[in-house]
Amino acid sequence: MRVFVTRRLPGDALDRLAAEHEVEVWPEQMPPGRDELLARAPELEGLLSLLTDPVDAELIEAAPRLRAISNYAVGVDNVDLEAAAARGIPVGNTPDVLTDTTADLAVALLLGISRHLIEGDAYVRRGEWRTWETGLLLGHDLHGSTVGIVGLGRIGQAVARRLEGFGCEILHTSRAVREGAGSARTGVVRVQGVPFEELLDRSDFVTLHTPLTPETRGLIGDEALARMKPTAYLVNTARGPIVDSDALGRALHAGQIAGAALDVTDPEPLPGDHPLLAAPNLLVLPHLGSATEATRARMADMAVDNLLAGLAGEPMPHAVV
Ligand code: DGY
Repeated sequence: MRVFVTRRLPGDALDRLAAEHEVEVWPEQMPPGRDELLARAPELEGLLSLLTDPVDAELIEAAPRLRAISNYAVGVDNVDLEAAAARGIPVGNTPDVLTDTTADLAVALLLGISRHLIEGDAYVRRGEWRTWETGLLLGHDLHGSTVGIVGLGRIGQAVARRLEGFGCEILHTSRAVREGAGSARTGVVRVQGVPFEELLDRSDFVTLHTPLTPETRGLIGDEALARMKPTAYLVNTARGPIVDSDALGRALHAGQIAGAALDVTDPEPLPGDHPLLAAPNLLVLPHLGSATEATRARMADMAVDNLLAGLAGEPMPHAVV
């Protein structure tokens, strides 16, 4: 069958796909444009997409022969799941394999922003470090702090487990985890379900691990940021649009919060001249949550497994729809 893969993938997973199907792999660094996707749609039977590719209702409608969509990500906010379901097209994703890798990065960001890792490195490289000083680049402790985890799913729970080692008290807002039963689900003892507002009021760190949905889009805006402590940090390794970038810029300039560390941004990529980058106490990464060699190769295997199953008319091992 005719399969389009919107970017080269690490490892040799695509060889397995090419052994069974007619595969075209988009060779560029930048994603295929809208026209490129739509041009292939009429003949397309399988699509392996990245989170940068909008697989929307228009594209799905333009692809009458499409039988399977496999997204190389756990997040599927770039795919119109309803439109796929309406056509009976299965959609697969890559859960679990990236959970620990992303949780590791979230902890790195919690430490990176609160202990001034980036500023410290830049300070030394500029040749400004003259002596050990009692007040140089003082930060805030992660150990013993209260961390609010917004979204206690797979990655949120993996972050909670790591932070137990730091002696943190964990707050979360998950409706699925009833008050008092949180520790049973996470395996973490000091975990408490609270209303969102209370989480914002009490947390020294707020870390986001919720999918992007209509309910979570703009969740962290002016109001939420105003509730956070002036000494608190915000970390986002989930999806950029959960945070209102303009509101965050205002909050950082006004010193309303101590800092923010973002692995994901809105827009993404963030242009080099975006006003948010002029805000103080901001650490930004280019969406590296799952970016280790082993994890990206496992994601490729899972994405190919999903697509092979979908094209064969079998249930995908990791199906969203
Ligand atoms: C995902 O899989 O959704 C991640 O954002 C990619 O790192």
